[in-house]
Amino acid sequence: MVFYTESIVGVTAEQLGGFFVGWPNPPSAETHLRLLEGSDHVVLALDAEEYRVVGFITALSDGVLSAYISHLEVLPEWQGRGIGSQLLERMLARLDGLYGIDLLCDPPLRSFYAQHGMRPAAGMCVRNYDRQSGAWVRVSELLGAR
Ligand SMILES: CC(C)(COP(=O)(O)OP(=O)(O)OC[C@H]1O[C@@H](n2cnc3c(N)ncnc32)[C@H](O)[C@@H]1OP(=O)(O)O)[C@@H](O)C(=O)NCCC(=O)NCCS
Repeated sequence: MVFYTESIVGVTAEQLGGFFVGWPNPPSAETHLRLLEGSDHVVLALDAEEYRVVGFITALSDGVLSAYISHLEVLPEWQGRGIGSQLLERMLARLDGLYGIDLLCDPPLRSFYAQHGMRPAAGMCVRNYDRQSGAWVRVSELLGAR
């Protein structure tokens, strides 16, 4: 049994873990929590028995025209049960009314997003792989750098 929340109040690093599968240099659970805290919008899926986070989606937005869905992941053992779809639908509903909602994905995932009304678009990106763990990036430093 899974329940969903759009608040991270009370969520601890102990409830996170097992995410960023396949990342060579994954963020720690503590860094994951900071990532959630720094996002404009978050939806979590929690295991109702153990209160463990089993899926999450995050978005960054200017609140006027645009939003970017930065992460969507469901723990491997919880995949294929509709949780990813629920997280995406709930985030799209939250962002409804904005002009643009963007994300980047590998080509095989296009059909998943298309099932939820999204369409392909071209994109560009920068990836600093030596910063992948996010270990030393502080939100306050990024804000201070503006
Ligand atoms: C993509 C992801 C979030 C889907 O979560 P989920 O809870 O398994 O999704 P649902 O059960 O709602 O839907 C499963 C659908 O996603 C599709 N899907 C899942 N992973 C896929 C992949 N790597 N490539 C293509 N399709 C994929 C399944 O084929 C299935 O489609 P179907 O309903 O037509 O059978 C999950 O597989 C995941 O966390 N993957 C690893 C991280 C990732 O790739 N995130 C997206 C970054 S853009």
